[in-house]
Amino acid sequence: MKPEKDAYGQEIWTYFNRRAGFEIVERDDGYFHVTSGPRIYFSEFEEWPDHEKKAMEFVKGRVLDIGCGAGRHSLYLQKRGFDVIGIDNSPLAIKVCKLRGLKKAKVMSIDEIGEFPPHSFDTVLMLGNNFGLFGSPKKAKELLEKLYEITTSKALIIAESRDPYKTDNPAHLEYHEFNRKRGRMPGQVRIRVRFEKYVTEWFDYLLVSKDEMKEILEGTGWEIKRFIDSSNAQYIAVIQKHA
Ligand SMILES: C[S@@+](CC[C@H](N)C(=O)[O-])C[C@H]1O[C@@H](n2cnc3c(N)ncnc32)[C@H](O)[C@@H]1O
Repeated sequence: MKPEKDAYGQEIWTYFNRRAGFEIVERDDGYFHVTSGPRIYFSEFEEWPDHEKKAMEFVKGRVLDIGCGAGRHSLYLQKRGFDVIGIDNSPLAIKVCKLRGLKKAKVMSIDEIGEFPPHSFDTVLMLGNNFGLFGSPKKAKELLEKLYEITTSKALIIAESRDPYKTDNPAHLEYHEFNRKRGRMPGQVRIRVRFEKYVTEWFDYLLVSKDEMKEILEGTGWEIKRFIDSSNAQYIAVIQKHA
């Protein structure tokens, strides 16, 4: 990744050094949103919402944290004795993870997870909405296949999403329609992230309802074990392999 494209990394680097920074998400219909970005990526367990705290109870064995950001989940688990590796395609985010004490942190895209040997992990984390990194239903199925290979028989994927339909914002409802018309899932948002002069490439981020998530899992060997709800549209899915 070219340094000027590492907007996630730059905001994380800035927050790490100065406790300042912001994150702008730009959608391809021109909608801009300032998120709580870097502050959340550095939050401690006590500050996490209840559904995220609850999700930690399901973690077991060797852990792969996909899109680990500043490493908050990986560091929490490492402290509790788990063998955890955080991967992120942002070189600066991984640098920060290492400086914060994460022993295993690697610059790696979700697209490269097939490089891990078979049966490497018992838990896969995709938190902070990172079910979205699957990008599209088609790519989700391909990556779920790879995740099947690199995990053990009783492995779990713990993945967070946001139900895109739990909104009454007209701009979002229009965007759903825009997506339907161009043959995409309503919650398949095409975005790029900005911080100061840094801007990522455009990428697809997939927000799904629980029913849509169940449909995506069909035929992949994975199924929902349970959902962990929050007080808003966010939810976490605990996903297991078929018996
Ligand atoms: C919304 S943040 C969540 C960070 C972390 N999971 C958390 O909850 O604090 C998304 C992270 O995914 C990373 N990311 C984006 N695209 C990625 C990709 N294709 N492969 C791996 N990581 C990616 C970004 O660099 C960023 O750190």
